[in-house]
Amino acid sequence: MENSSIIQIENLIKSFPMGKTKFTALNGINIEIGKGEFVGLIGPSGSGKTTLLNITGSLDTPTSGEARVLGNSVGTLTAKQAAKLRKENLGFIFQSYNLLAVHTVYENVEFPLLLLDYTKTERKKMVMDALDWVGITDKVKSKPPQLSGGECQRVAIARAMVKKPSLVLADEPTANLDAANSHNILQTMEKLNKELNTTFLFATHDDKVISYLRRKIYLLDGRVDKDEVLENSKR
Ligand SMILES: Nc1ncnc2c1ncn2[C@@H]1O[C@H](COP(=O)(O)OP(=O)(O)O)[C@@H](O)[C@H]1O
Ligand SMILES: [Mg+2]
Repeated sequence: MENSSIIQIENLIKSFPMGKTKFTALNGINIEIGKGEFVGLIGPSGSGKTTLLNITGSLDTPTSGEARVLGNSVGTLTAKQAAKLRKENLGFIFQSYNLLAVHTVYENVEFPLLLLDYTKTERKKMVMDALDWVGITDKVKSKPPQLSGGECQRVAIARAMVKKPSLVLADEPTANLDAANSHNILQTMEKLNKELNTTFLFATHDDKVISYLRRKIYLLDGRVDKDEVLENSKR
C-alpha cells in the first residue's frame, strides 16, 4: 500500500476570468503522488501553489484536465460529494490557522468529528490523542487568543489530524511562525507522516519547510518546472 497512488493530476488547466480575458493560473499540470509521501509544491508567489492545493482539496474545480483524489475526480463531484470527501479523508492546515476564537482548544479539535458518526466518548479519546501528538494537552481549555502562534498552529495540526485523514494539505503552514516554532511543527508533521502514514502535501516557499520534504515539486508560472524525489530523507 505504501506506494499506491493517492493523487493523480492530469493535464490540469485552471484559468480565472479577468474582465474580458482570462488568467491561466495552472497551465498543464501532470503529477502523481503516492500514499505516505511528504511532498511540497514549491514556487514563488503567484506560481499557482494555492490554486493547485485548493483543487486537490476539492475546494475548487479544474477548468480542464483532471484531478483525482483517492479515486474521486474532483471536477465531477457534486458539492455534497466534495464535502463528504473532505470531511472523511482530508485535513487542512492554513497559514492563518483558521481556529475559532471563541471556542476552546478542545472544541476546535473536536469540530471535524462532529460532522462524523462518533460518540462523545470516542470523540474525547480522539481529541486527547491528537492534542498529545502535537504536545499541547496542557492547553486543552485555553482559547486561541490566549495561545502563541506556534501553539495555534499545533492546535490546527491536531484539528487536521484528529480523524486520521489519508491526506493533509498544508498551505504555507510556517508563514506566521519564527524559526524555532517552524521546526517544531515540521518535526511534528514529519512524525505523524511516519507513524500514521498520512500523506502530506505542502504549498510553500519557505526553505525551512523545503529542507524537510522528501519530494520537491517546483512550480513556475503554472507549470511543473522540476520534480525531485530524494532517495534518502536527510532526517
Ligand atoms: N480567484 C482568483 N481569481 C483570479 N485570479 C486568481 C484567483 N486565484 C488565484 N489567482 C491568480 O492565479 C495566480 C496563482 O495564484 P496562487 O495559486 O494563489 O499562487 P501561489 O499560491 O503560488 O502564490 C496568481 O497570479 C493569482 O493572482
Ligand atoms: Mg499561495
